Amino acid sequence: MSNQKRVVVMGGAGFLGSHLCERLVGEGHEVVAVDNFITGSESNVEHLSGTPLFSLVEADVSAGLPVEGPVDAVLHFASPASPVDYLEFPIETLKVGSLGTMNGLELARANDARFVMASTSEVYGDPQIHPQHEDYWGYVNPVGPRSVYDEAKRFSEALVTGFRTTYGTDTGIVRIFNTFGPRMRPNDGRAIPNFVRQSLRGEPITLAGDGSQTRSICYVDDLVDGILALTWSSHSGPMNIGNPHEISMLDLAQWIVKLVGSTSETVHIERPVDDPTVRRPDITLAQRELGWSPQVSAEEGLRRTIEWFRTHPDVTR
Ligand SMILES: NC(=O)c1ccc[n+]([C@@H]2O[C@H](COP(=O)([O-])OP(=O)(O)OC[C@H]3O[C@@H](n4cnc5c(N)ncnc54)[C@H](O)[C@@H]3O)[C@@H](O)[C@H]2O)c1
Repeated sequence: MSNQKRVVVMGGAGFLGSHLCERLVGEGHEVVAVDNFITGSESNVEHLSGTPLFSLVEADVSAGLPVEGPVDAVLHFASPASPVDYLEFPIETLKVGSLGTMNGLELARANDARFVMASTSEVYGDPQIHPQHEDYWGYVNPVGPRSVYDEAKRFSEALVTGFRTTYGTDTGIVRIFNTFGPRMRPNDGRAIPNFVRQSLRGEPITLAGDGSQTRSICYVDDLVDGILALTWSSHSGPMNIGNPHEISMLDLAQWIVKLVGSTSETVHIERPVDDPTVRRPDITLAQRELGWSPQVSAEEGLRRTIEWFRTHPDVTR
């Protein structure tokens, strides 16, 4: 196949990485996933192991990227991503956002390949403007508990930009807003898997603060569409990819309880330090440059996700 590409997916055994690998292989590309399983799992990609288009390399990308042969694109999706995970692995998170990014960039540079880095809406911190567009510089506490993640991503963006301006490396930065779907870990601390797991078990729904804080939730298939559109473009970003469907955590919890058909009550727990009050992407840039916008409604995405958790009751880290 003449358009076949060879793509390295750093963090390919994680939630988003595994969906990217699946889509790329499905489209006939060759994929090398590199992962150390710190928050991901081989089981996320075991359904791909039968195809010669897919290989999985166990390695810490902060220490190096042991990938031989030509490469067309390097997608950097390796990093602990949920607050529970990055607070458990703070130094690893800082290393993968710095050394891991450097190693990925060097691999791309050596191969004249495109490099796309998974950044995050967290670079906007607790935003003072709403919705957030790419020109906004953010409002981040550099020494707060979340800083190990937020600042790792901000440094990573700076490093990617440095390679682009210094070496002419073909780079893209995608700022991902809250994404959900199958293969999230039920206890990774993120709101949707948490609420779904608790609803399915009939346990109390733990809601941080009064639940008035908002997030905008994107179904994973839409996110993958946007990321691959950016990958095959030459746009440098940073580019927001997310679904502007904004919802308060209280409304989200009640919606999930209803969709599950659960009897779970809501209990309030302390809100984490520096927890953002609002989040909503301005996706004008992605719509204009990539012709991309989300297609799956939040309700349809939630139904698919609930169904997956229902049929995978034993998923653990
Ligand atoms: N899911 C979201 O809503 C979201 C939002 C914004 C940004 N992101 C970014 O997208 C990327 C993927 O997030 P996710 O939700 O799939 O998280 P995840 O934890 O499911 O996946 C991350 C993967 O990276 C691997 N990894 C971490 N450090 C590594 C290292 N040093 N070497 C090799 N592999 C390593 C993990 O084992 C895991 O498989 C992350 O960079 C995250 O910051 C995700």
